[in-house]
Amino acid sequence: MSQPHPLDLLDPTFKANPFPTYAALREREPVARLELPDGQPIWLVTRYDDVLLALKDQRLAKDRFSMLTPEQLAAMPPIPEELKPFTRNMLDLDDPDHARLRGLVHKGFTPQRIAELRTIITTLVDELLDAITAAGSVDLIDALAFPLPATIIARLLGIPEADLPRFRAWSNAMVAVTSSEEYAAVIPVMQAFMQFVRELIAARRAEPRDDLITALVEAEEQGQRLSEDEVLAMIVLLLIAGHETTVNLIGNGVATLLQHPEQLDLLQRQPELLPSAIEEILRYAPPVEMATERFAREPLTIAGVRIPAGEQVLAVLAAANRDHTQFADPERFDITRSPNRHLTFGQGIHFCLGAPLARMEGQIALARLLERLPNLRLAVDPADLRWKPNLILRGLEALPVIC
Ligand code: HEM
Repeated sequence: MSQPHPLDLLDPTFKANPFPTYAALREREPVARLELPDGQPIWLVTRYDDVLLALKDQRLAKDRFSMLTPEQLAAMPPIPEELKPFTRNMLDLDDPDHARLRGLVHKGFTPQRIAELRTIITTLVDELLDAITAAGSVDLIDALAFPLPATIIARLLGIPEADLPRFRAWSNAMVAVTSSEEYAAVIPVMQAFMQFVRELIAARRAEPRDDLITALVEAEEQGQRLSEDEVLAMIVLLLIAGHETTVNLIGNGVATLLQHPEQLDLLQRQPELLPSAIEEILRYAPPVEMATERFAREPLTIAGVRIPAGEQVLAVLAAANRDHTQFADPERFDITRSPNRHLTFGQGIHFCLGAPLARMEGQIALARLLERLPNLRLAVDPADLRWKPNLILRGLEALPVIC
């Protein structure tokens, strides 16, 4: 077995440009053993074909509780009793539980349902751009990339807009956790968030409305197809997955375009390239760097490397997206790229439920931004852009721009 790697996946310098490291790993060590800061061993998979197979491989479980030995479970950070409901979210479960839960919400996210949101999204983007234009220089994460997806997912679920600032603080604190010590510190935040969601569930139970929370509550009441814990877990998952990712699509997208003026110019001259530009942003500067953790149900071999039962595997989407066996000239940002089979929305049964929504939000935000602010530029040196120290996501702390 290979020795653990010294690579620190959370180091801001690494996060700013992990791609040369991924290229070296794909070449020399396509399945690499690392240790997280809290000492947990993980296996990084970096080649396109291996990532694709890992995402679909049923021998890699999402639900750690279903297959880890008591010793392996004991070695993991403990989960406080009141937070256990969240472990029932579908992204951390396998079929048949996963399929049952996904079946209950997928109708809310079909391309047709999402297309109905187009006007609402466009109006919101224009309101945000009005404020940006008036200010002249802003942090674009704060002024556009965060409020757009957060407001839209809150509206879909039925969360009052007045609660958005509280929700932002909770969500940011939760996804920023990178170690067991930080995890302990964030427990009160998670408890407050859970309490907030429980109150929303109770409110919709008492007074149903035309929103997703009501639909989930009614499904629970009608036929034991999901438990109250599962309703809670679904709402928390949708809230977090629904915006932390899309923030980065808009932030990384604008930052990348501003650093590739010839591609930006091409897009301004040919706005019909927008859908293809969004796919290239997703490939080249993915908002999600790796798929969430999977656990080996049994000893298994990937690219000739033996992974022991119970160990954790991370499929690196950002690395797969630059594999030259799949993409011509992969280090080039090319908004006309076709085909572009990036893996940024995952693959297999956990393929991103919100992909049509994320794509639409990204397209509308960029289209309106480029039209209304044709002279947009970075207010800082690109080297000074700071990346969040997050394992799974890849996004900027701030994106200072001048209109
Ligand atoms: C650009 C934005 C987005 C990206 C890059 C993204 C990426 C992903 C990826 C890679 C996965 C699979 C993770 C894995 O297999 O470990 C996933 C799952 C998921 N995403 Fe997204 N996502 C985005 C936006 C959204 C939005 C807007 C929503 C919600 C409305 C959403 C909801 C979900 C849900 C619920 C799952 C779990 C699906 C399941 O377990 O079956 N995502 N996403």
